[in-house]
Amino acid sequence: MSETRTTGTALIPEDVVKLIRPDIMAMEPYTPVVPFEVLGEQLGRPPDEIIKLNANENPYGPSPRALEALAALNGAASIYPDPEARRLRALLADYVGVDAACIMVGAGSDELILLLASLFLAPGDAIIDCPPTFSMYPFNAAIAGARVVNVPRHPDFSLDVEGIERAARESGARLIFLCSPNNPDGGVIAPADLDRLLALPLIVVVDEAYHEFSSAESVAPRVPDTPNLIVLRTFSKWAGLAGLRVGYGIIPPPIIEHLWKIKQPYNVNVAADVAARATLKDLPRMQANVRKIVAERERLLRELSAISFLEPYPSQANFVLCRVTGIEAATLRQWLEDEGILIRYYNKPGLRDHVRITAGTPAQTDALLAALRRIEAKTG
Ligand SMILES: Cc1ncc(COP(=O)(O)O)c(C=O)c1O
Repeated sequence: MSETRTTGTALIPEDVVKLIRPDIMAMEPYTPVVPFEVLGEQLGRPPDEIIKLNANENPYGPSPRALEALAALNGAASIYPDPEARRLRALLADYVGVDAACIMVGAGSDELILLLASLFLAPGDAIIDCPPTFSMYPFNAAIAGARVVNVPRHPDFSLDVEGIERAARESGARLIFLCSPNNPDGGVIAPADLDRLLALPLIVVVDEAYHEFSSAESVAPRVPDTPNLIVLRTFSKWAGLAGLRVGYGIIPPPIIEHLWKIKQPYNVNVAADVAARATLKDLPRMQANVRKIVAERERLLRELSAISFLEPYPSQANFVLCRVTGIEAATLRQWLEDEGILIRYYNKPGLRDHVRITAGTPAQTDALLAALRRIEAKTG
């Protein structure tokens, strides 16, 4: 018989759970991505045989200089990082063209989204979300206990600016997140739309996670002179550092001062810090990789429009969204997965007949197109 241990507590598990915030108890759990190795096991393939076009990662990986800097970390790993990431922020100031005093680095831009939600939103406050878009905005707003006021995009994925203006007046929302280029369609915000939204009495966060793949101008240089504009960027996509978690915000001085107060002191680890700095010193190579990805995105767009059941949308990011006609998008995702090719399917209103495909290497595109043509032969 097993020994019963006395913990000295009068609480039973049901009592403990009652101490959790009721709004978090009621929240739907987040579905995290399945790690690569686990997927390999599930698909019965070694991970290096899987073509991963589902998370907008960079197929060319990190800069070799970043890898060298990581290998040379040695003793630095036992010392806490600089809480202000001073050296990285100085390099970012040159890269973005804004003063380092306006820059904060985070453990991925995801961390900065959570920090902004914590700074601006108390329970019951509202944010405006414009779906379909990146799901971390309503997710982090919910953690802050905020209400999410949805103003869906038009069928062409452009913003419903009148709808946002109305929602801002009616809800008193304090924050709006706008993704440009938008995930999942890859469209950018029209400058005139942004100007109208900046005239509203709320904070406008423009998430430029995919900016490097776009021909649109960044709005980051406007931040120092626009008190309600914040721009988010990341090293996860163009710089191939998704696994190290490093993103940054360009934030007007009156706001950043308060954001520093709530940031975890050692949020950016030393590995992320050295790798990001080495990447910024290897720009010509990394920009050449970005150009290869953009060329592949354009090739994808052309070739996918020739597949009878796909209608791709033009994109300024490193992915192409497609409407799927004639077959179920979920089935298409499954058929490709059976061939070791992963694409993104959305089981969400407005997107159930869509898939998003990351631009990979030319060889990955070849394999994808061959698989799609086999499916076309099978279904046509
Ligand atoms: C629009 C957008 N913003 C932010 C992120 C997250 O970036 P990070 O890896 O820096 O947290 C992603 C990642 O998919 C994204 O699509």
